[in-house]
Amino acid sequence: MSAGAAVAVVRRAAELRAAADAVRAQGGAVGLVPTMGYLHEGHQSLVARSAADNDLTVVSVFVNPLQFAEGEDYGAYPRDLDRDRRRCAEAGAGLVFAPPTEEMYPQAPVTTVAVQGLNAVLEGRFRPSHFDGVATVVAKLFAMLGPGRAYFGEKDYQQLAVVRRMAADLSLPVEVVGCPTRRESDGLAMSSRNVYLTADQRPAATVLWRSLQAGREAVEAGSRSADEVEAAMAEVLAAEPAASPDYAAVVDAATLERPDALAGALRLLVAARLGRARLIDNIGVDCDRL
Ligand code: PAF
Repeated sequence: MSAGAAVAVVRRAAELRAAADAVRAQGGAVGLVPTMGYLHEGHQSLVARSAADNDLTVVSVFVNPLQFAEGEDYGAYPRDLDRDRRRCAEAGAGLVFAPPTEEMYPQAPVTTVAVQGLNAVLEGRFRPSHFDGVATVVAKLFAMLGPGRAYFGEKDYQQLAVVRRMAADLSLPVEVVGCPTRRESDGLAMSSRNVYLTADQRPAATVLWRSLQAGREAVEAGSRSADEVEAAMAEVLAAEPAASPDYAAVVDAATLERPDALAGALRLLVAARLGRARLIDNIGVDCDRL
């Protein structure tokens, strides 16, 4: 498929499985990039990484109702499958899986996947059912396709941790690959939800990145107190009138637990609302490598 053309779409799990089985029958490797569509350069970097590692890259495009709570943006979430197909082609995908809701959920599922603990902290405090919805749909996509590798952006750092833990706990035969966040030139993390920002809110949205930098600077300046680092991040968020902060947190990068005294590899995470957009971002800081 040449760049600029559109990648073929399948809508049924059986067609998806058949396409992947044909590749595997030739000894080929299959990679999955799960998405909710409205693809940006961040998604494309995941696709390019998968295309480099595998013989067939499948991009799933499915706005998963199970991970949205009542009152969230399920209905408004941006959708544009034709554009997604072109972006997939540019980045080297071989197939798009865009199932209708009834293909993913022929009946309301009573079996769901809950990654306990990890589903309840940080984002989980504000979106209590979110990660169970994510873990369930990702488990189903893994079961439908059987990818050898699956690619997730670090922008959704907690999601990556949830999926890794799910794959480990359930012995799923898939390598979960985390890929770096892609940013606009002013630091704003690329996200499909950035489309909700008005022209006035767009410059203010860099507050998440600025807050993370303040946290990093506090650690680099020698602070080893979680309270102090979080206060430095919160101060930047609070100074932006267009933003309503949800949290500014520092956690252990592996466990997502909040240490009192900071040591080793940390993750700084922030979430804030700007008008209709609820944005999240994070960075890593390693105390042992400063
Ligand atoms: O990151 C996303 O877009 C979604 O949470 C995912 C992983 C595709 C599951 O619906």
